[in-house]
Amino acid sequence: MKLSEKPKEKNIAPPLWLLAEVTYRCPLNCVFCYNPVDYAKQHNELTTAEWVKVLREGRKMGAAQLGLSGGEPLLRKDLEEIVEEARKLGYYVNLLTSGIGMTEERIKNLKTAGLDHIQLSFQDSTKEMNDFLSSTKTFDLKKKVAGLIKKYDYPMVLNCVLHRLNIDHIEQILNMAEAMGAEFVELANTQFYSWGMLNRDQLLPSEEQLKRAEKITHKFRDRLGNKMKLFFIMPDYYSTRPKKCMNGWGNVFITVQADGMVLPCHVASMLPDINFESVRNKSLDWIWYKSPGFNKFRGDDWMKEPCKSCPEKENDLGGCRCQAFMLTGDPNAADPVCDKSPHHSKISEAVIASQKPSNYERPIVFRTDNDSRKIMQKRDKGQLDIRSSRLLERDSKPSKEKSRVGLV
Ligand code: FES
Repeated sequence: MKLSEKPKEKNIAPPLWLLAEVTYRCPLNCVFCYNPVDYAKQHNELTTAEWVKVLREGRKMGAAQLGLSGGEPLLRKDLEEIVEEARKLGYYVNLLTSGIGMTEERIKNLKTAGLDHIQLSFQDSTKEMNDFLSSTKTFDLKKKVAGLIKKYDYPMVLNCVLHRLNIDHIEQILNMAEAMGAEFVELANTQFYSWGMLNRDQLLPSEEQLKRAEKITHKFRDRLGNKMKLFFIMPDYYSTRPKKCMNGWGNVFITVQADGMVLPCHVASMLPDINFESVRNKSLDWIWYKSPGFNKFRGDDWMKEPCKSCPEKENDLGGCRCQAFMLTGDPNAADPVCDKSPHHSKISEAVIASQKPSNYERPIVFRTDNDSRKIMQKRDKGQLDIRSSRLLERDSKPSKEKSRVGLV
């Protein structure tokens, strides 16, 4: 059935993936973090009992995959309890972690609780660059955690976010992954949202860098085959067709933020004129099927030209709503990555701007509580440029809590 023939609401499939961002506290300060730039507005994380309620509601709706992410999910001391409940309910439970906070005792307990899968992130193959990019001293610790993942018989799944500052080390990154016995490696080029967008001029790689990285990845793929499966995710700034973001708005993924707000993607809270609901006030089922926010971009009624009459619209559903808003100010516009978009020049201009040597002198913004608060204050004083100001919820206010790092 074609998009336009689908009656709204009746044909909404249940979510397959529940993404639980259980905390925004994080010991790392990554320059490409996809957490909202105004994440320091958050306080009052969902309690264990509230997460258990979310898990039950999600499973009842049919969600089968659970992603536990953050921030750093290991900072929640009730993570084992959450995992145990999820496993009992029948979820396949994935932990997405920097590894900070993982000890032998915790991995043993998580295994007993039923954790199925761990994805460990690295920032680079060298201690210096890994520690610079996360603004921490964590490289050696991550290596220890990789050893624990092997010891406790989990598949070794590594993730490294690529950008201009580390993409030339791809051969070393893959050698490191091979030496660690990785079975899956995700080399995901930075997608330019949130903190990545603030740092876009410093992080966007050149086309030559990308081509070289892809070539090296192919070489490893040819040599290692299924022994180490490699996924190389291109930045869409070098494409002429947009991605089908989140596999369609409100189609497969439901994201619950640390304070209970429910979103169709990690960053949709920045979109104007949509009130997203919290699990504290509404059921997950109502939010998915009935809430205006989740129905906003389902089907194609919302589309404008050139998407509306485009013969390819079923392939990408007009691309990413958040990217359309960030780059054009209009969330209903075609994603500018598409070369049929009247705003496609924003993409080519960004590529040119990012190659200026002067970018190397500009300071990079690390994801910290302080900077998150400062950015909200700048927005309130009208000191933020328009593109950056679109990364924040209209009326987000900094939380007064002092430090958000540590165990709850
Ligand atoms: Fe929000 Fe693409 S990131 S729709």
